[in-house]
Amino acid sequence: MKIAKTIAEVRSVIAELRKERSSSASGDKVGFVPTMGYLHEGHASLLRRSRQESGISVLSIFVNPIQFGPNEDLDRYPRSEEADLKLAEREGVDVVFLPSVEEMYPEERKTTVTVTGISERLCGASRPGHFDGVATVVSKLFNIVKPDQAFFGAKDAQQVAVLQKMVNDLNMDIEIIPCPIIREEDGLALSSRNVYLSEEQRREALVLSRSLRAAALRIESDAAVTPGQVIAEVTTAIQQSPLAEIDYVDLLTFPNLEPLDEQGGFSKLRVSEGSVILALAVKFGSTRLIDNTIMKLKEVPLHV
Ligand code: PAF
Repeated sequence: MKIAKTIAEVRSVIAELRKERSSSASGDKVGFVPTMGYLHEGHASLLRRSRQESGISVLSIFVNPIQFGPNEDLDRYPRSEEADLKLAEREGVDVVFLPSVEEMYPEERKTTVTVTGISERLCGASRPGHFDGVATVVSKLFNIVKPDQAFFGAKDAQQVAVLQKMVNDLNMDIEIIPCPIIREEDGLALSSRNVYLSEEQRREALVLSRSLRAAALRIESDAAVTPGQVIAEVTTAIQQSPLAEIDYVDLLTFPNLEPLDEQGGFSKLRVSEGSVILALAVKFGSTRLIDNTIMKLKEVPLHV
């Protein structure tokens, strides 16, 4: 496994590997997993998928300052370079790109990538500028690594939607591959930020996956339920936890993230077999957790 700290180095290592592997059975396609480190099983699942699908597997670890707001957790974002490199090695990563902030942003930046609309809802509403920071750094990383495929976890579903739109709009020749949310056995979605939770907060946080599961069942089985009812039920369930402070609970079309109108709601989408996302962000103390479920709607009988 090669570790590259500069843009020049990572480009040259990848070019070398592409040359070496061009006639090998595994091929010279580059699979890329961009991360901010503090890797867990969720990241490992992305790395395994990348390994399965591409001949060359590249991981980047970079805590991107421009996607954090002024009062967010940039300074205390957890880091663990040694453990990350061990996990990368175990997952058969070929190249780890570990740039410094100065390497990525050496001078005053005058360019920002903005995906309008999709970026402004859900997390974008409470974290203004966050998705500009994500789209900008991912564009830079794509230009540096030049991957054929890039793998992202569906826990950050809005991030996937934003990046897919960016790639389409800018004709980037990269396949975005969303991978399933990885959960603890009790349902908590894996996140680098889970380490901030106290034992009690972690226990209470299970209400998130529980209420999403219940809502998904309701949408699948009850043709008459409205989006407003689903949102209200999830909100009420989460409010039972005294430690939970809701940022948002919302139900939108996926991947365009447009509101469902209360009248047509699910029924219109059921006819077209469209997809919806039920997404939430909830704070436990100062830790903000997100989770979601994406459902492809099929017609359900009116009376179940
Ligand atoms: O999902 C993340 O870890 C980050 O948003 C990403 C995609 C690595 C960009 O910094």
